[in-house]
Amino acid sequence: MKYDFTSLIDRHGMDAIAVDSWGEIPGMAPNAPDEGFDRIPMWVADMNFATVPTVQEHIIQRAQHPMFGYFDPRDEYFDRIIEWQSRRNGVEGLLPEHIGYENGVLGGVVSTLRAYVQPGDAVLVHSPTYIGFTKSIEAAGYRIVHSPLKLDDQGVWRMDFEDMEQKLAQNHIHAAVFCSPHNPCGRVW
Ligand SMILES: Cc1ncc(COP(=O)(O)O)c(C=O)c1O
Repeated sequence: MKYDFTSLIDRHGMDAIAVDSWGEIPGMAPNAPDEGFDRIPMWVADMNFATVPTVQEHIIQRAQHPMFGYFDPRDEYFDRIIEWQSRRNGVEGLLPEHIGYENGVLGGVVSTLRAYVQPGDAVLVHSPTYIGFTKSIEAAGYRIVHSPLKLDDQGVWRMDFEDMEQKLAQNHIHAAVFCSPHNPCGRVW
């Protein structure tokens, strides 16, 4: 399918804090730019490409039925994940009971931590850290231990393995969160 990656789509008034919340979320959204400058919505990691049309079509088709309520994920949900994991990652033997339901990365991070560490335990995270990770991990009752990323003389952000090793041992850490591409340094690990 030919896909449009170049059109600039106007998102104003369409539930997009990326373009509509300048100056309105203190400490988060930037102030409006000075007169004569454009608003470039790079302050939040929001998608600037249109959603693939088949996703829109299916949402519209479902919304035409007027009842919405509690649900279990359908068989198709599990089938697609199992098929994708097999094709992309060579994962064999995956069953529906191995798969949870999440509708965002942050819930997924917390659910994954819950499988491995107890609230109150320490979790290693590289800093600077995406604020969503900081808030969700702390709200779930974990203690964050930061290992600062280091900028090398070529301007490349790198993990400090010695620092990580020391902190993992000192704090008896059993889980670390890897963010790739790292927000905010952009490094793909
Ligand atoms: C690294 C990273 N993970 C997760 C998210 C949020 O993902 P979701 O909305 O799927 O929870 C963001 C949003 O900026 C992000 O930068």
